[in-house]
Amino acid sequence: MMKRTSAGLITLVSLIPFVLGQAQEFAQCGGIGFTGATTCVAGTTCQVLNPYFSQCLPGSSSAPSSGPTTTPPANPTSSSHSSTPTSTPTTTPAAGNPFEGHNIFLSPPYASEVAAAVPQFTNSATAALAAKVADIPTFIWLDEVAKVPSLGTYLSAASAQGKSSGTPSLVQIVVYDLPDRDCSADASNGEFTIADNGQANYFNYIDQIVAQIKPFPDVRVVAVIEPDSLANLVTNLGVAECAAAQTTYLACITYAMQQLTTVGVIQYLDAGHAGWLGWPANLQPAAQLFNSLYTSAGSPSGVRGLATNVANYNALVAASPDPITSGNPNFDEMLYIEALAPLLDPFPAHFIVDQGRSGVQDIRSQWGDWCNVLGAGFGTQPTLNTGSSFIDSIVWVKPGGECDGTSNSSAPRFDPHCALSDATPNAPQAGTWFQAYFETLVEKANPPI
Ligand code: BGC
Repeated sequence: MMKRTSAGLITLVSLIPFVLGQAQEFAQCGGIGFTGATTCVAGTTCQVLNPYFSQCLPGSSSAPSSGPTTTPPANPTSSSHSSTPTSTPTTTPAAGNPFEGHNIFLSPPYASEVAAAVPQFTNSATAALAAKVADIPTFIWLDEVAKVPSLGTYLSAASAQGKSSGTPSLVQIVVYDLPDRDCSADASNGEFTIADNGQANYFNYIDQIVAQIKPFPDVRVVAVIEPDSLANLVTNLGVAECAAAQTTYLACITYAMQQLTTVGVIQYLDAGHAGWLGWPANLQPAAQLFNSLYTSAGSPSGVRGLATNVANYNALVAASPDPITSGNPNFDEMLYIEALAPLLDPFPAHFIVDQGRSGVQDIRSQWGDWCNVLGAGFGTQPTLNTGSSFIDSIVWVKPGGECDGTSNSSAPRFDPHCALSDATPNAPQAGTWFQAYFETLVEKANPPI
């Protein structure tokens, strides 16, 4: 996972005087229906992101890392997979807050991790608190195709729980297996590569998820779609891997939205966080991308909104701005959401916000530090009492205790962020259990567990 701030870039942008007739860095410079300036300020080039949105990105058009200049397909096709919904959804997503009237199914893999972690605590009082974490809903990450068959097992159990309790179950998943995943960082690089059949492999991964869900129309499935991916397309097309991945990311996410809609999955696309897309200069480009992608996908009815702060540490409402947020008026998730929501049209302006590791504030040296941040505590527990009509639910997306990335510089997938002074040392590979980190999350939980 990459949890990046564009603070440096934005500071630079704010210093560039407005040049009449020229679009600024990261501003829109073209697209269907666009009537503004189509030339970009010096040092940036107008790049086509999709038919509806071109953006002034750093670099010249001849620079290999500045992104493709060709138009990616609005509605990607593949020989073996349809790119438009092929059937009427078997479950029509309900209007209104999808979390209402449901019991959230507890993640079995997380329950196992917590059960194994509790006996390792030396303090029995803290161990008792840790045991309670197993009862707090987290999302189930389908971070490799081999995990997809387990989804059917969970849905079967969730269905049985719904029938015996009389209240339908809601299963929370993260769809996270893009080819060339985590294009601007290293720690969470995934199993598929674009060069090696990645798009077809991803379509197959989505098809398998759909097949698992189809037999259980009585269970509501809520999905976070591809953490970091679209945010990387907004701010990180200067990174060669992201520029090279953008067409594929757009095709894959379009396919995911359309196909998951056919089985009624309620989807929240990942939208980074306040310190990433929440910078004022990034809001409009982000909204443009969400709006245009949604439209070009055929406005899939399963798409409910956006997920913010996934695996990050920002407060929903900060008591006071963390000094590292200086320069960004949107210094917490609520401010970010309130700034972004009015720009979303026709993309639906509904949100969920990860607060799983946001209990302790003012612990980072830089806003862009995202890896196993030292001193983090569990945050506000999942609730529909969010304080905003834009926000459907506070959630825990990142299963607290699972690692963000290895701190071992000679290990595969090492990312330097995981060895910073504000990252917890002796960290194992991303996604694996990090006992010391879990213990701190429990001890520093705010509110207490
Ligand atoms: C890892 C995934 C893991 C997820 C949740 C990501 O950083 O790359 O493997 O499933 O975190 O812990």
